Amino acid sequence: MKYIKVKTYEELSRKAAAVIAAQVISKPNSVLGLATGSSPIGTYENLAKACDNGDLDFSDVTSVNLDEYVGLSTDNDQSYRYFMNKNLFEKINIKMENTNVPNGCAADIEAECKRYDALIEDLGGIDLQLLGIGLDGHIGFNEPCEEFVKGTNRVTLDPSTIEANARFFASIDEVPREAVTMGMQAIMQAKKVLLIANGKNKAEIMEKAFFGPITPKVPASILQLHPDLTVIYSEN
Ligand code: F6R
Repeated sequence: MKYIKVKTYEELSRKAAAVIAAQVISKPNSVLGLATGSSPIGTYENLAKACDNGDLDFSDVTSVNLDEYVGLSTDNDQSYRYFMNKNLFEKINIKMENTNVPNGCAADIEAECKRYDALIEDLGGIDLQLLGIGLDGHIGFNEPCEEFVKGTNRVTLDPSTIEANARFFASIDEVPREAVTMGMQAIMQAKKVLLIANGKNKAEIMEKAFFGPITPKVPASILQLHPDLTVIYSEN
């Protein structure tokens, strides 16, 4: 594991973008696993800038996002599909048809989970997976539990996650209670994993996840077993 501590969110965002840029330059048809939330916003801004300058070309890249809320349509501005379109996809030259986010409005969510796993397999797996980490140690929306979950699955969000994510909604009551998330298998089989986190409030979970015991009670701790993991953390 490469555990890189940086001083500011700006530095974290530049470094994370540089890791992703290196991946896209060395393999233009990379499959990128992407995340939403506040952590990657600066990274996405840097990638958009590099694409705009002509330094990066996403025209052969395929993306698979980690997760989506159950019940939010793609045009709902709180959906993760909407977030990705606004913060990245519309700002770079990726082909929209090559971007994938689980469908949280699928009539049959279990079938959607199976479809998503089959899609990732058909793509040959993920070359680089970008992750954030929740205050409870979740990655994607794989919440603390008794056993790691292998495939894409439907989850009930932890009260702490609902509370943390309420900042993006008008009120806590509007935060969906369920989500579809990629499971641990696709994440752990990604050739490279890049996890980014910032803020003093994440210091304790970062310590537990990367220097504590490996346990499904701290889902991110499984990443300690990944052969090519880079973690970038800024306390500020
Ligand atoms: C988002 C996701 C989540 C977030 C995590 C951290 O797609 O999978 O695991 O990465 O909740 O969120 P932020 O970055 O908002 O602190």
